[in-house]
Amino acid sequence: MRILHLSDTHLEHSDAPNRHGVNATDSLRLMIAELGHLRDVDAIVVTGDLANDGAVEAYTALRELVGEFARGLDAPVFYTTGNHDERGAFGKVLGSGHPAPEAVLESEASERAAVSTVRGWRFVTLDSLVPGKVYGHVSAGQLDWLRGALSAAAERGTVLAFHHPPISLDISATQPFFGLRNPDELAEAVRGSDVRVILTGHYHLQLSGFLEAVPVWVTPGVVNRIDLTTPPGTERAVRGASASLVELGGADGPMFHTFHARDPRAHETVYELEEEQVRAFVEREA
Ligand SMILES: [Fe+2]
Repeated sequence: MRILHLSDTHLEHSDAPNRHGVNATDSLRLMIAELGHLRDVDAIVVTGDLANDGAVEAYTALRELVGEFARGLDAPVFYTTGNHDERGAFGKVLGSGHPAPEAVLESEASERAAVSTVRGWRFVTLDSLVPGKVYGHVSAGQLDWLRGALSAAAERGTVLAFHHPPISLDISATQPFFGLRNPDELAEAVRGSDVRVILTGHYHLQLSGFLEAVPVWVTPGVVNRIDLTTPPGTERAVRGASASLVELGGADGPMFHTFHARDPRAHETVYELEEEQVRAFVEREA
C-alpha cells in the first residue's frame, strides 16, 4: 500500500496571495508538479487545513487540483478537516471527505468522519476540529463510533487519519498546547485494534513518534514549512511545499518518504515571531 499524504494546503477563497504574501494555490501547484512522475499510488490522504478561511471556493479549487492529479493515478482521495476548516463548506464540496464511503459518522455537530477500504486496507478519517480553537479534540461520540468501526479487523490493516497530531515536540512553545488534547482517550479506543499507522498534519513540519505501539506521522505543510532551527520560544515559517509517501505492508513498514516542491523561493522567510509574540499567541489561544 502506497499512500500520498498531503496536508495544510490553506487555500484562500480566491487565487490570490495570503496575508503573508504566499500564494497557497501556487504552492499546491508546485507540489503537484513535483509529484508528476509518481506512479503506483493506491490512495491520497489530505489531513486538514484544506481551506485557510473555510471558503467553499477554496474546497472547490482543492477538489479540482488534487482530483485531477488523483484521476491520473486512479487513486481515491480522502480528506479530513483541520482547525482552519469549516464543516458546512467542507461538506458542501467534499461530503464526508470520502468519494464512496462504506460508513459515515452521523453527529449533531456534523463532524466529518468516514470509512473506506482500498486493496484490503481500511481508511478511517476522524474530525479533530474544535470550532474557533487551534488545538484539536476527538469527541466521545467519534471515539465510540471509531471503536465500532475497528471492532472487526480489516483484511490488511487500518490507516487512521486526522489533523491534530497526538504527539508534540517541545521545541517551539506553540506546539505542545496545540496538538490533539485527548491522545490518551484516542489510544484507549485504538488499543488492540489493527491500526497500523496514524497520519496527521497541522505542525507544518515532518515528525514521527508513537501513540502507544502505533506509529504516528506528521507530514509537513503544503502552504509553508515551520523552521525549527530558530532560537527556543520563537517561530519562523519559510516558503516551500512538502508532501509524504507512506508505504505499508512491507517487512520494514511503515516507511515515510518526504518530497519537496521545486520552489525557486524555497526557504525564504514567510513570517517570524519573537518570543513575546509567541507567548501572547499561546496565552490567547491555549
Ligand atoms: Fe492546523
